Amino acid sequence: MYRYIPFLLGLLFWSSCYNEYAQYSNNPTDYAIIPQVQSLEPMDGLFVWSDQVKLDAPADLKEEAAWLSAILEEQYDVAIGQRSGGQIQMRVEADSSNQESYTLDIHPDKILLVGASERAVFWGLQTLMQLTRKDTDLDGAIVVPTGRIVDEPVYGYRGMHLDVCRHFFSVDFIKRYLDVMAMHKINTFHWHLTEDQGWRIEIKRYPELTNVGAWRNGTIVGHYPGERNDEERYGGFYTQEEVKEVVAYAADRHITVIPEIELPGHSSAAIAAYPSLSCFPSEPTQVNNGMMSEASVALQAAGQEKIVQETWGVFDDVYCAGKEGTFSFVENVLTEIMDLFPAELIHIGGDECPKGNWKRCHHCQKRIQDEGLKDEHELQSYFITRVEQFVNSKGKQIIGWDEILEGGLAPNASVMSWRGTQGGIEAAEQGHTVVMSPTSHCYFDYYQSEDRANEPLAIGGFLPVEKVYAFDPMPESLAADKKNYILGGQANLWTEYIGTEEQAWYMLLPRMTAISEALWTNTANKDFEDFKVRLQDVRADYDRLGYNYAKHVFEE
Ligand code: ACM
Ligand code: ZN
Repeated sequence: MYRYIPFLLGLLFWSSCYNEYAQYSNNPTDYAIIPQVQSLEPMDGLFVWSDQVKLDAPADLKEEAAWLSAILEEQYDVAIGQRSGGQIQMRVEADSSNQESYTLDIHPDKILLVGASERAVFWGLQTLMQLTRKDTDLDGAIVVPTGRIVDEPVYGYRGMHLDVCRHFFSVDFIKRYLDVMAMHKINTFHWHLTEDQGWRIEIKRYPELTNVGAWRNGTIVGHYPGERNDEERYGGFYTQEEVKEVVAYAADRHITVIPEIELPGHSSAAIAAYPSLSCFPSEPTQVNNGMMSEASVALQAAGQEKIVQETWGVFDDVYCAGKEGTFSFVENVLTEIMDLFPAELIHIGGDECPKGNWKRCHHCQKRIQDEGLKDEHELQSYFITRVEQFVNSKGKQIIGWDEILEGGLAPNASVMSWRGTQGGIEAAEQGHTVVMSPTSHCYFDYYQSEDRANEPLAIGGFLPVEKVYAFDPMPESLAADKKNYILGGQANLWTEYIGTEEQAWYMLLPRMTAISEALWTNTANKDFEDFKVRLQDVRADYDRLGYNYAKHVFEE
């Protein structure tokens, strides 16, 4: 009897590895991954997910292992366990110059995932999940085509921005947004938290920012300058506990969250909460189109001069650059912000700051004299540089929109180039790091069709998926020794005309899917026709997961 034991053990081993699809012939279209991987060698055979599959991951990959188990359970109703020597082996081997590179070897009986960092392993899991499918032709088996993938991104900064000020979006929505980012290996979430039309983050030291600044008494209806005011109180904000929840959720998905606190412009909501931040606290808030809500008109008549803006655009009432109180306010706010966000970069806005108030403010003019500044542009540079020194003193760095070049760039600042790429080129030439986000390719609030009559109201422009796909943040004209200053690119979703989650998804997808490939995959592997084929698979994921999306690219 005992002489059969080796044979029985062998049989047991064989049956635990055996799967009936070990010789299956895979189709090229079964490998639909977006962003496209740098190299893929397809093989015959399928790996099959089941409750028998066990995961072998070291302690430093505990969160990644938990993510994989949860997603398999949620999306495919498969419960995998953990066991040393299990079929799924994951580990970190920090032997690459690219911190996000990974290799994924998929065999019928085992999967080996090795990443240069925990983040890289997580991206490998995204690839694995994109390859996973429930196949009705195979009795509903949950399978993965086998092969070897070696992959890494071209750009280290791959960002998506969201304006939660013009319209407010729930924590739940932001989590779903982060989920789609993770699926496409987009590693940075730029959270635009303060604006003229609403201050959206709790600051303990300044409760009026959210008591007053998070609410407006109405919103214009129709395209700016608007048809009328809807006369509806609108607003919302995130508590610090909610912010921590979002930051942790993002961290679990290896996404860095960069908060944006706008200064010195786009600050009407803060000024409504604390009027002394304005050059002229007793001057009434001006609206650009005379379409203020009745409630706000009544408040101004009763002596409350400053109101949260109800229409879009750029406003003259900005933070006073002369008063010391402005800087202590900004520093106190940023102190709470830096405690909440572990990111090294803090976005301080810097765009679209009119200089009219500064020209007629005696505090601002005195500052210009005392500091020996040439004009109001240099005063803006003084403002940004002073904020930068404070942020640097806390071990962090600032990033701002390309207007921060005006009057001289703060010494350590990074630049986010939105008015084309010229600002980014200039900044890189001066030795500053740059994120490219030009309106031409990266503004997802633009129309997706030239047939505007059949589209939901949008700000303007025309940005089809194909043009997003063609985006490359690297300017051809940049000298070779300056190219390393281009960190990557980012798409922005400004929400003046986007009031619902459904519509936000419509504007985001599939353009967000397209930009992920523009930022991850090198030019040699980019091919729009091939992308469209793979996009069919991702479309099935949108459908399966319940995301709304624009259909133009599927109808051509
Ligand atoms: C911007 O679009 N004002 C940065
Ligand atoms: Zn002033």
